[in-house]
Amino acid sequence: MTDATLGLASLPQQNVLVKVEDGIAWVTLNRPSKRNAINPGIVFEMVQVMDVLEMEDSARCVVITGAGDAFSAGQDLKEYFREPDAGHPIARERLHRANAAWQWRRMMFYSKPTIAMVNGWCFGGAFQVLLACDLAVADEEATFGLSEINWGIIPAGIVTKSVAMALSQRKALYYILTGETFNGRTAEDIGLVNFAVPKDQLVARTTAIAKKLIEKNPQVLRAAKTAYHYTRDMSWDAAAEYLASKNDQTAFRDPEKGASKGMNQFLDEKSYRPGLGAYRRD
Ligand code: COA
Repeated sequence: MTDATLGLASLPQQNVLVKVEDGIAWVTLNRPSKRNAINPGIVFEMVQVMDVLEMEDSARCVVITGAGDAFSAGQDLKEYFREPDAGHPIARERLHRANAAWQWRRMMFYSKPTIAMVNGWCFGGAFQVLLACDLAVADEEATFGLSEINWGIIPAGIVTKSVAMALSQRKALYYILTGETFNGRTAEDIGLVNFAVPKDQLVARTTAIAKKLIEKNPQVLRAAKTAYHYTRDMSWDAAAEYLASKNDQTAFRDPEKGASKGMNQFLDEKSYRPGLGAYRRD
């Protein structure tokens, strides 16, 4: 693991570009000539980026996107598959482990909200990045595809599992088995992304969503997404018990004591309505 306290200045800014502006960390996969295919360079740099941003107070929401006309063409067929497959088996294992560490183990339970901004091609392993992000916005003309079947493998990594969690059985199996591409509009219709917008509105729409998230209590945002992921695999009774405890834990740990502040503002001061917006966090 990287020393996350080294900060933004320690990042290589080569395979992945990072800039933080107004609370939003813009993380750009940066191999446009290879359509941002995920090679070992991206894998190990992303592990570092996610480590550093987690401890970086100026970054309160993370947006992941791609340079040029691709979000990402998936795992790099040469540098992630063919070369490591022919190389040292432990080196290959370490690469796959680092990829999993970034693409789902870390991102799914990341301490800060994450948004995928799909600006173009999105294939195979890129679905993993897309689905590990909390939310997603796409260019309506972006092209998506589970292309694995076209070159003789199944959507592995953890892509099949992610797709099964996100889409209906009919949609998931259709795209897994046919490899047919679809655009951003369809991605919105089937629930793969939250919104599809014209290209010239992509950044503005993503920024607006990020700003909405940044206004919320960060401790509670963290707990809400953790609870979402864990309760999906629990029985109803276990989920109710877990959620009660998680709620108490969150209130106990919350440095700004949001729940009592909000209640006070609504019930005593009558100065805001929780249904219509966030309590004042001053
Ligand atoms: N792995 C390795 N290299 C890739 C790649 C991938 N997943 N996707 C693109 N590239 C490379 C190409 O080999 C090419 O390299 P070169 O310039 O050295 O020849 C370069 O990126 C540009 O690709 P090209 O196919 O010419 O671009 P395009 O704009 O015409 O087409 C795609 C874009 C994304 C449709 C096409 O590159 C493609 O089908 N990529 C593979 C997508 C895929 O199946 N991914 C699943 C991986 S899990």
